[in-house]
Amino acid sequence: ERKINIAIDGYSSCGKSTLAKGIAKALGYAYIDSGAMYRAVTLYAIRNGLSNNDEIDESGLETELDNITVDFTNSNGMNMTRLNGEIVENEIRNMEVSALVSQVSRIKKVREKLRLMQQDASRFGGVVMDGRDIGSAVLPFAELKIFMTANKDIRAMRRFEELAEKGETITLEEIRANLEKRDLLDTTRKENPLVQVPDALLLDNTKMTEKEQLNQALDWAKELI
Ligand code: C5P
Repeated sequence: ERKINIAIDGYSSCGKSTLAKGIAKALGYAYIDSGAMYRAVTLYAIRNGLSNNDEIDESGLETELDNITVDFTNSNGMNMTRLNGEIVENEIRNMEVSALVSQVSRIKKVREKLRLMQQDASRFGGVVMDGRDIGSAVLPFAELKIFMTANKDIRAMRRFEELAEKGETITLEEIRANLEKRDLLDTTRKENPLVQVPDALLLDNTKMTEKEQLNQALDWAKELI
């Protein structure tokens, strides 16, 4: 049985990571959350005074890039993102990071650095990676590419429920505004914007359960393995 690479791209809060984790578990593959890496660099910028008034100091962050390492560690069977050795899995999911991450991810030097790390992690195959430019730029030769989308109101509602469960006090309106802003920045930026590449299979999960999505993706994958 050969080990393929699977690229999952799509809009914010489409359930990409849930699906990617499910596929990785079912196939015994590694899951790589590329968005977490952009979020970790954003957290670094916030902590080191490289952001103010909702603006990122882009050139300041560029000169700091060599001081930033992002990697993953396994703790209790969970994939944890680390920033310079510190587990930051929770911090990178907060609204402050979500509000600034698309400004960080449009910086060319940031993208170059993270892309090389993502490619290095996938060189032996057997990886499921989700993000915005995986099928187009990071793993253009991935055997299976999936492009996910869902109705915007449904996406906002799902994220709202997820954050409410974690005890974050945030309104549905704030979440909707953040999703819209990120989708706009992510699809219109110059460096590797989010696009559905021609060889990606479309998965619109507006009316699908998690199980249905997983079964669909595994059907696609098994044809290639
Ligand atoms: O996937 P997630 O929502 O955590 O990604 C956070 C942000 O990171 C995205 O809105 C996007 O700006 C950026 N990103 C990216 N390229 C990727 C993954 C994420 O630009 N491959």
